[in-house]
Amino acid sequence: MRNDRSAKSYDLHTAIISNEEVAEAHYLLRCECDEIAQHARPGQFIHVMISHGPGLLLRRPFTIYTVEGREITMLYQIIGEGTKRLSEMPKGAPLQVLGPLGNTFNLTTKSEPAVLVGGGAGIASLMLLAAALRENGIETIGLVGAQHHARLLSVVDLESIGITVHIATDDGSIGHHGYITDILANLLKHTDWHRPMIYACGPHGMLATVTKIAADFEVPAQIAMENRMGCAMGVCLGCVCPVRIDTNNFEYQRVCTEGPVFNATDIVWDV
Ligand SMILES: Cc1cc2nc3c(=O)[nH]c(=O)nc-3n(C[C@H](O)[C@H](O)[C@H](O)COP(=O)(O)OP(=O)(O)OC[C@H]3O[C@@H](n4cnc5c(N)ncnc54)[C@H](O)[C@@H]3O)c2cc1C
Ligand code: FES
Repeated sequence: MRNDRSAKSYDLHTAIISNEEVAEAHYLLRCECDEIAQHARPGQFIHVMISHGPGLLLRRPFTIYTVEGREITMLYQIIGEGTKRLSEMPKGAPLQVLGPLGNTFNLTTKSEPAVLVGGGAGIASLMLLAAALRENGIETIGLVGAQHHARLLSVVDLESIGITVHIATDDGSIGHHGYITDILANLLKHTDWHRPMIYACGPHGMLATVTKIAADFEVPAQIAMENRMGCAMGVCLGCVCPVRIDTNNFEYQRVCTEGPVFNATDIVWDV
């Protein structure tokens, strides 16, 4: 994974340009963050101070979804108090945004396709990557999973840049009835690709399954972890995850600074 520790982050005071519900309990927020927009790379995130209402001390991390000129967007799901308050912030409300943070996905340069696997809001972490892959002429397949039809995200955005999308929903209301990882396994089983590159983000269980499938088919996979965060600056150790350093040993690494992107097979899932 690419980790440029000398890269600079910017703590910007900005205002919301738009903040709209794009699917059930999911919002797309747009704001002007010129320096972040200029330096953002696929997989990197921002740490957002939500000062709407009392009592939220910690910032919340969100991946940079798109970059358009001086503006960035983030696509987020309402999970708890912070994201609920964020969803209530109107156009023009002030926002403090720190970024870009974290390492970045390695772009494949191979002739084999890239397969993006996004579960729920996890697909948000793969959109900037999707655009970069397409700009580099890499054939890219999108696998998008959701709980149900009304929560499906990013399909139009992916298709608009020439990505073929396969869908799975837990209740079968659209696409395959089951997990998006079923489609991944099926795809790898029935293609003659030699070694596609898998990129994934989503719930912990989905990422563990992606890792197993990648190992079974002996294909490389990069995953973006979304552990809870405190400082996002490498100081509090609140975000660590176990990372294999050799066959028998692992160490805890910080998702905010060593990650959020890791080689899937380096993560120890059963600690
Ligand atoms: C690098 C990174 C990038 C992310 N990018 C996105 C994104 O693009 N879009 C998006 O929707 N979300 C993203 N997330 C997750 C997002 O940061 C959390 O959903 C958000 O911080 C929740 O804040 P809250 O105040 O609403 O919930 P809280 O009130 O803080 O928590 C509510 C409940 O959810 C649990 N919870 C909170 N955060 C997490 C988490 N990260 N993992 C598991 N459980 C959690 C808590 O334990 C609690 O039970 C990202 C996380 C990381 C670390
Ligand atoms: S969030 Fe504090 S070290 Fe990662």
